[in-house]
Amino acid sequence: MPKILMTGASGGIGTRLRELLPPIYPDLVLSDLNTPQNLKSSETFKQADLADLAAVESICEGVDGILHFGGFSVEGPWDTILQANIIGCYNLFEAARKKGVKRIVFASSNHAVGFYPRHSKIPPDVTARPDSRYGVSKVFGEALGALYADKHGLSVTCLRIGNFGDMPLDKRRLSIWLKPEDLVQLCQIGIAHPDIHFEVLYGASYNERAWWDNTRAYELGYRPTGKGEDHREHAMAEQAKLKPDPVGDFYQGGAFCSAEFSGDFSKVWQAK
Ligand SMILES: NC(=O)c1ccc[n+]([C@@H]2O[C@H](COP(=O)([O-])OP(=O)(O)OC[C@H]3O[C@@H](n4cnc5c(N)ncnc54)[C@H](O)[C@@H]3O)[C@@H](O)[C@H]2O)c1
Repeated sequence: MPKILMTGASGGIGTRLRELLPPIYPDLVLSDLNTPQNLKSSETFKQADLADLAAVESICEGVDGILHFGGFSVEGPWDTILQANIIGCYNLFEAARKKGVKRIVFASSNHAVGFYPRHSKIPPDVTARPDSRYGVSKVFGEALGALYADKHGLSVTCLRIGNFGDMPLDKRRLSIWLKPEDLVQLCQIGIAHPDIHFEVLYGASYNERAWWDNTRAYELGYRPTGKGEDHREHAMAEQAKLKPDPVGDFYQGGAFCSAEFSGDFSKVWQAK
């Protein structure tokens, strides 16, 4: 039974996975900057700041695989992104190497490729088009994953997560929704599949309006049970409450693209 470390245990995804993972990984170690709410006596929690290499090394001790959900999860000031997602992610991979951890599943994001237009369908191996400092940090994390796989032999799976939750919240999320149980499947593939060296997969359920080609995930056995269209009515009703956003509505990254936007809309994506 592998010993699995989950960072970001106090966050939205971490809190949900604390319910779903223990039957699969009874030897689960939780970590975060902040103590999770309602910690049970059956749970093991180790506090650590990802920006502190020694602390990260200590939580990696004796671990077989890491689910790395810790970090700053939206756009933010550069120094915040730098500490949590750039230095923090480096520390995580470096500590894993030093402590002999074999597998890492890294929570990347759709915002690594947010400036692709919605009318294109992209595979995982496209050139990065981050839509934010946050998105840049996810591209950096994916690059670290490739380095630690190729140079140090770790098995690394980067999940470009769309939007995690019980249902898609608006029209954009109909294309990128990720049901919690489907994320669990992707984590299991990353932790156990024998063919994984370095993979970038899209963290999305079975969404008919998908902007992403997730063939590789299906080849690795992914069989999502969430169907975005089952929630179309709710999502479109919520969409009707939103103001139009000419830049955000055109690109996959939505409001992350339009925030702070001072570019030339006509030139960001002319040719493709
Ligand atoms: N929720 C989504 O739909 C979504 C989509 C794409 C990517 N992701 C990625 O998945 C991961 C989890 O997302 P979430 O929605 O649960 O985010 P969240 O913000 O709810 O949780 C992130 C957790 O990381 C912890 N953290 C932040 N900085 C830290 C540090 N320096 N050291 C240790 N812990 C630190 C926070 O305390 C928090 O509990 C994030 O990396 C996020 O970027 C999430």
